[in-house]
Amino acid sequence: MNLTETQQAADPDFLTKMGDDLKRGLLPLRVFNNQQVYDAELRRIFARSWVFIGHESEIPNPGDYAMRTIGEDPFIFVRGRDGVIRVLLNSCRHRGAQVCRTEMGNAAGFTCPFHGWSYRNTGELEAVPAKKDGYRQLDITQWGLFAAPKVESYCGLVFANLDPEAASLDDYLGSYKWYLDIQLKLSEGGMEVIGEPHRWMVDANWKQGAENFCGDSSHTQMTHRSVIDVGIVDKAAAGAPNKKFGLHVHDCNGFAISIRQLDEGKSVFWEYPPDVISHFSADRLSEAQYQLAKRSIVHNGTVFPNFSFLHFGLTDSLEKPAAGYLSIRVWQPRGPGKTEIWNWIMAPKEASDEYKRRAYQVGMSSFGPSGSFEQDDVAVWPGVARSASTVFAEINNVKLNYQMGMGDMGDSTPIANWEGPGVAVQSNAGEGGLRTFHKTWFARMVPQDKTASAGSSDAPEE
Ligand code: FES
Ligand SMILES: [Fe+2]
Repeated sequence: MNLTETQQAADPDFLTKMGDDLKRGLLPLRVFNNQQVYDAELRRIFARSWVFIGHESEIPNPGDYAMRTIGEDPFIFVRGRDGVIRVLLNSCRHRGAQVCRTEMGNAAGFTCPFHGWSYRNTGELEAVPAKKDGYRQLDITQWGLFAAPKVESYCGLVFANLDPEAASLDDYLGSYKWYLDIQLKLSEGGMEVIGEPHRWMVDANWKQGAENFCGDSSHTQMTHRSVIDVGIVDKAAAGAPNKKFGLHVHDCNGFAISIRQLDEGKSVFWEYPPDVISHFSADRLSEAQYQLAKRSIVHNGTVFPNFSFLHFGLTDSLEKPAAGYLSIRVWQPRGPGKTEIWNWIMAPKEASDEYKRRAYQVGMSSFGPSGSFEQDDVAVWPGVARSASTVFAEINNVKLNYQMGMGDMGDSTPIANWEGPGVAVQSNAGEGGLRTFHKTWFARMVPQDKTASAGSSDAPEE
């Protein structure tokens, strides 16, 4: 799909001209709360990217379903009676009412509450009331629920794409799979979702959380200081940027990841206990991936546009040992200044039920809706959306500073013998991952051939 000249002509000036800003590590503040930008994002980004829907383990049986969204559009994530997972538009083909009205469950089909058209859990129309009297010629094979044209999964993570011409999910993830595999393939059974996703509203733009998880390593010492002070987490995991522990990877197929790690040879595996680690092996990973996992304290990253993950080990009590878990989340757009955060907690499938309960507790107490870390972040982010909507920002085209670690600002020399993909830097005093996120965003919002390019280099132009 190409953007029409009319669409582009309607774009605000600051958007079409921001390629040069990005090259200098600057970002117009207004992108964090602007109706025109937001409307374009729903069409140019959410309707054309691979968007995370859910994990296969959430709907293991035929008929299992859960309500999900792509952008703001409502979909049903459902495993049909044929075992196939589909992502169906939750809109009746008769007059558009929502056919599924409960968050999740198991059903043979969905009957519309308006006039009673009923659909199988495969999306096919099964019956319409008064067919003999009112719909004698209706070909019910033509009136099934609309479905997302592309649905594919990676290690159990199901994504959908509304663009029928989109490249495969495998191509979309590309070299970034090297890092995803470290989170998902350590044990033979992979990772499993524990419980339902928690969700909550924040007065912030969806990009706020998405960019944060790309490697905003300098906010933890400030935003999360109270958690460090009480000793729930140590400074290596959440303290100030530190070359010894911090590793950033940016420009990896348009994505980024931030890693905190101990020295080579040390074993920590995000604080999973020995009985869980006993299920880990290098069988499904390269030696370099396995060794990196072994010495890792924290991994966090974002698959553009709004799927993020956090692999971490923490405790909720000084009397109890830390427990590792994987949090996956989506930043659901709900307006230019509103985001609904969805958060799933995962643990290795082979872990005991007791450990999974513990991982869930620790995950919820740190990054759940009332979690110690989560509360810190969502206290700060709404301020950005507020500033972004000011008349002052509009009149002055206020730009934000994303220059940390850029070019000669810091130690941005890539690690020469890095075995993974992307540009790896042995420092987390930088915002290269955030710049990667916004370069990817810009490339999708404004086609490069029509405007100044944001470029692929992370070196400043001036
Ligand atoms: S809108 Fe669904 S049956 Fe009429
Ligand atoms: Fe944070």
